[in-house]
Amino acid sequence: MQFERKDILDIESLSAEEISFILDTADRMKEISKRPVKKVPTLRGKTVVLFFYEPSTRTRTSFEIAAKRLSADTLSISSGSSSMVKGETLVDTARNLEAMNPDVIIIRHYSAGAPHTLARLLKTTSIINAGDGMHEHPTQALLDLMTVREKKGYIRDLRIAIIGDISHSRVARSDIMGFTKMGAEVVLGGPLTMIPAGIESLGATVAGNSDDAVRGADVIIMLRIQKERQQSFLYPSDREYSKVFGLNPERLKKAKKDVLIMHPGPINRGVEISSEVADGPYSIILEQVTNGVSVRMALLFLVAGGVRNVNSD
Ligand code: CP
Repeated sequence: MQFERKDILDIESLSAEEISFILDTADRMKEISKRPVKKVPTLRGKTVVLFFYEPSTRTRTSFEIAAKRLSADTLSISSGSSSMVKGETLVDTARNLEAMNPDVIIIRHYSAGAPHTLARLLKTTSIINAGDGMHEHPTQALLDLMTVREKKGYIRDLRIAIIGDISHSRVARSDIMGFTKMGAEVVLGGPLTMIPAGIESLGATVAGNSDDAVRGADVIIMLRIQKERQQSFLYPSDREYSKVFGLNPERLKKAKKDVLIMHPGPINRGVEISSEVADGPYSIILEQVTNGVSVRMALLFLVAGGVRNVNSD
C-alpha cells in the first residue's frame, strides 16, 4: 500500500489496512533497537520538535529516542519554558515554529483537537498527536496493538477488557477504536461514573461489573484514575476502588490462562492494579514501553522519511 498521510492525528481516521502497515513497519524498526549501534541514517537532516504541554515520561522519551535512532535532530519545548507563559497562543507558537522549517512537530496538549488545528494550519510540517485532552492517544493504541499482535500472533477475535476511568482516558478511546478496527471484541469495566454514556457507539460493550469484564479475557488493559481531569469525586476511596475494580491475583483467575496484562502507565500500584499482577508473569507492561520506541520510529519514518511517495507490498 501507499502511506501518504502528512499527519498522525487519531486512530479514528486510520483504516485497518493503514494500522497493519504501521505495525509491520514498527516490527521492522524493532530490529534497529537490538543492534550494538542503535542508529540508522534514515532521517538525517530532518528536524523533530517535541512540544509537550502536559507531563510525560514514556511518550516524550520514546519519541526522542525514536527520532535519534533514525538520526533526526530533536528539540524539546514545554509550555512553561516557551513564550506561551507570556500569553502567546498555540496557533502563533506553531506558526513561529513552522517558520524555522521543522519536519515534524509532536504535540501533547490538554485540549482535544489541538493537534488537528495545527495539522490544518501548517501546510508542510507533519503533526503527530502525542495525546490531546480526553480525546485520543493514537501512538499508545498503536504500541498496544503491536504488543498484542507480537505476543498472540493475531488480534482478530481476541477478547480485550479495558477497565478503569474510561471517561477521562484518551488511551481508552484510541484502544477501543484500534482493537475493534482490527477485529477484536472490546469489553469495558469500571465505575459507572467513569464510563461515558454512548461509549458503545465506538464498538465496545459495557460489562456489569469488573469480574464480568475480566471473565474469559485474552488481554486486560488497566487504566489509571485520572484525578487531574475529574471535576468531582467519582468514587469513595482508593481502598474501595481497589477492592471493587482493581486487578488482583484473585480477580485475574477469571481471565484466560494465557491472559496478557497491560497498562499504558503511569501505574498507581495498589489502586487499579496490585504489584503482584503488575510485576507478575502475565504482565507485558514494560514490553509495551519497549514497543513504544518501535512504533514511534515507524511513524516518524512514514511521515518524514519520504515513504509517503514510496510503494510497498
Ligand atoms: N502512556 C503514556 O502516555 O505515558 P506518559 O504520560 O508517561 O507519556
